[in-house]
Amino acid sequence: MGDERTRQSYDAVAAEYALHLSDELSYKPLDRALLGMVVEGATSGRPIADLGCGPGHVTGWLAARGVAAVGIDLSPGMVAIAARDHPGASFRVGDLRDLPASDAEFGAVVALYSLIHLTPDALPVAASELHRVVEPGGAVLVAFHVGEEVRHVTDWWGHGVDLDFRFFETELVAAHLESVGLAVEAVVERAPYLEEVATRRAYLLARRPSDR
Ligand SMILES: C[S@@+](CC[C@H](N)C(=O)[O-])C[C@H]1O[C@@H](n2cnc3c(N)ncnc32)[C@H](O)[C@@H]1O
Repeated sequence: MGDERTRQSYDAVAAEYALHLSDELSYKPLDRALLGMVVEGATSGRPIADLGCGPGHVTGWLAARGVAAVGIDLSPGMVAIAARDHPGASFRVGDLRDLPASDAEFGAVVALYSLIHLTPDALPVAASELHRVVEPGGAVLVAFHVGEEVRHVTDWWGHGVDLDFRFFETELVAAHLESVGLAVEAVVERAPYLEEVATRRAYLLARRPSDR
């Protein structure tokens, strides 16, 4: 089944992924700025979740800013590396479509390039999980590759993988977030940085409406 392929693929590539990408925020100023906004706005003291955290470098970046940070990922191999490399954050194995988290547990959630492995029919389920686990008034930041392509990859840094990278139109993801009750506040698209795979990138900053 697709999820098992994704999990096994990321388990296989986890160590290499950490070696290649753990310092990526150093050359991604827009990502740092958006994550900084999320940190600035999360004032309730509840942790910030990094969903599909991979080797935990973004979780670690959040924790280094003085907030409690929790990374969650489908791949136990990724979670093991994240916990090893980022002792200041905590990590859980879990699925975006059925998150191991309680309702409104988090002050904000980010999901950078993790929705990209979901089939289109799973997007509404994941969107409703994002809405469920963030507290009222909390921010949701997602990032993905823009388009309609599905890029199938079988070799990644010499490791055999079986992965579908799904690109999404920005309006489609925004509509899914809005349909579960999240208010989309900002839509940003950018060209790739030189160090990145040459795809157009989108960021959506949304918010669960406050109860008040
Ligand atoms: C391209 S990596 C992105 C990692 C990290 N967020 C980053 O920006 O470098 C995708 C990650 O999403 C995880 N992932 C894929 N499908 C998932 C799912 N259904 N639930 C949770 N994590 C998932 C993978 O295991 C992998 O670590």
